[in-house]
Amino acid sequence: MSSKKIYIINGSPRKNWNTGKMCESFSNGAKSQNIETEIINLYDIDFKGCRSCFACKLKNGKNFGKCSYPDGITELLEKISMSDGLVLASPIYFGDITSSMRAFVERLMFPFFQYDNNGTTIAPKRLKTAIIYTMNVDKDYFFRDYLGSEKSDTLKNFEKFLGYVFNAPDIIYAFDTYQFSDYDKYLCERFDKIKKQKQREEQFPKDLEKAFEAGVKMAKEIK
Ligand SMILES: Cc1cc2nc3c(=O)[nH]c(=O)nc-3n(C[C@H](O)[C@H](O)[C@H](O)COP(=O)(O)O)c2cc1C
Repeated sequence: MSSKKIYIINGSPRKNWNTGKMCESFSNGAKSQNIETEIINLYDIDFKGCRSCFACKLKNGKNFGKCSYPDGITELLEKISMSDGLVLASPIYFGDITSSMRAFVERLMFPFFQYDNNGTTIAPKRLKTAIIYTMNVDKDYFFRDYLGSEKSDTLKNFEKFLGYVFNAPDIIYAFDTYQFSDYDKYLCERFDKIKKQKQREEQFPKDLEKAFEAGVKMAKEIK
């Protein structure tokens, strides 16, 4: 095993569902290249988003450039910033990343984002990055209504800031995911049970394969 490491952040509350499985597959891809990985389940950690304390921007402050707010994520933020690769995996909630993932990126990235005239990043390492999105809607709907219109701004900004602070992300998608283990039990007229099942059996394995390949790619890049 090399000394290089990739952190994979699962921003879904469901550890072993669609997003979790995509994380696992990415991890297996990276591990196949002898790169260490660690999957972090954000919903296991007691933390909140940025408190706007600005200790990270205080001139000559002892915590300049880092988030020192003491809670369950502080130590991990430091470890991630010294790693080599970062994967942010999130289900789409109301056209955006989940609230936990949002809180996480505020804490991780804001200290590195300088308020100088050039908006310089002071991340100690320019980590390789990837994003995994999983969602209920299909590909056409996503690109038309989430990324092709005014609604798209939040996701585009998320991707832009990640690129700015670390490196432009590779993006892996799983569309049209299954949401329940038994569609008959829930009120869900909008989504066709048979179509979902077909997607789950035929398309999702291909999505997992894409995540695996992305893991291989990132591992090779950081080797
Ligand atoms: C609160 C909530 C909001 C959601 N909003 C959207 C949405 O706006 N668009 C969408 O395509 N899917 C939406 N979904 C569905 C999830 O994104 C999708 O099922 C995802 O794959 C779930 O990931 P998981 O299986 O890892 O939990 C929503 C789910 C929840 C629970």
